[in-house]
Amino acid sequence: METKLTRSPKVAAQFISKNELVAFPTETVFGLGANLFEPRAVEKIFLVKGRPSDNPLIAHFSHFSELDLLVKKITPSAEKLIEQFFPGPLTIVLPKSKYVPDVVSAGLPTIGIRMPSNPLAHDFLKECGVAIAAPSANLSGKPSATTWEAALKDLNGKISCILKGEPTLHGLESTIIDCSTHTPLLLRSGAISLEELQHVVSDIQIYKPSKTEAPKSPGMKYRHYAPNARIILVHDTSEIQPLSNSAYIGLHDFNSDFGLIGLMAKRICNNQKEYASSLFHFFRECDELGVKTIYCERISSNGIGLALMDRLEKAAKSTH
Ligand code: TXA
Ligand code: MG
Repeated sequence: METKLTRSPKVAAQFISKNELVAFPTETVFGLGANLFEPRAVEKIFLVKGRPSDNPLIAHFSHFSELDLLVKKITPSAEKLIEQFFPGPLTIVLPKSKYVPDVVSAGLPTIGIRMPSNPLAHDFLKECGVAIAAPSANLSGKPSATTWEAALKDLNGKISCILKGEPTLHGLESTIIDCSTHTPLLLRSGAISLEELQHVVSDIQIYKPSKTEAPKSPGMKYRHYAPNARIILVHDTSEIQPLSNSAYIGLHDFNSDFGLIGLMAKRICNNQKEYASSLFHFFRECDELGVKTIYCERISSNGIGLALMDRLEKAAKSTH
């Protein structure tokens, strides 16, 4: 299959109407979309990504009038969050409507809804005229794609179209809040910080899966965000061992002449936001260079730091 590259939301939307798959930019990461209401189109997403069928997809939409087709009801906490953060990098889990095919929600009674703020995403969704089911546009287990080139690398020849856009603004996935429960639960930290959310809905709790029950967000149990290289997290650059074929990303610089032999890539970020938006791209760059070990500096877990540390911990766990 030839993968068409286009900058036109209209051209990209034509593939959706033919029940084919389109990778498209959002403000978080690139998504891999299909018409949400066509089970056969949605099934292709799972096949192409190698995604386990019990891992549900997020519904992306561009206009509030579409909500009735997606959710059964909007709880008071969801209403507040929607008002404050839509469009934006937030996904809200609610009881799903009867129109949402089971393949999208992976059999769960709920659906995650998200209204992207990226203008190209908005135009694309508007042209599609239907809600788009989409996970991140990467092969399962790999870091999410933050550029169209990264989406192409993973999906070339496997999908019909990539809507080209700028590198994504946040570089980390959306924050996910489950509002289908009595107390809203943070299922995945992301581009919108917990502090910002708690400002609007004060009783949000951080969800911690118990050892005995299945995690509420099925994606939690799978290998995640992992480059080929081994990830080692360090509190301080003095912990870095002189290994060959290494790389480093963090906020603090160090003297690599004596600190590290064979440093293949180094990325010093000015702040946490820049660290978060560069991480997945850096992981992919390291893969292309054949890096074997990536040292990543730990940061404090406030603001975007909570999401960044979550992705770093998961990547480190996946590669050990
Ligand atoms: O920023 C994002 O959220 C990106 C862009 C493309 O919108 N999408 C994204 O999708 O990251 P994905 O599929 O890579 O991650 C979605 C996560 C998965 O861990 C999945 O298990 C969880 O959301 N999820 C989806 N629907 C859910 C539901 N109804 N209940 C609980 N968790 C859900
Ligand atoms: Mg993903």
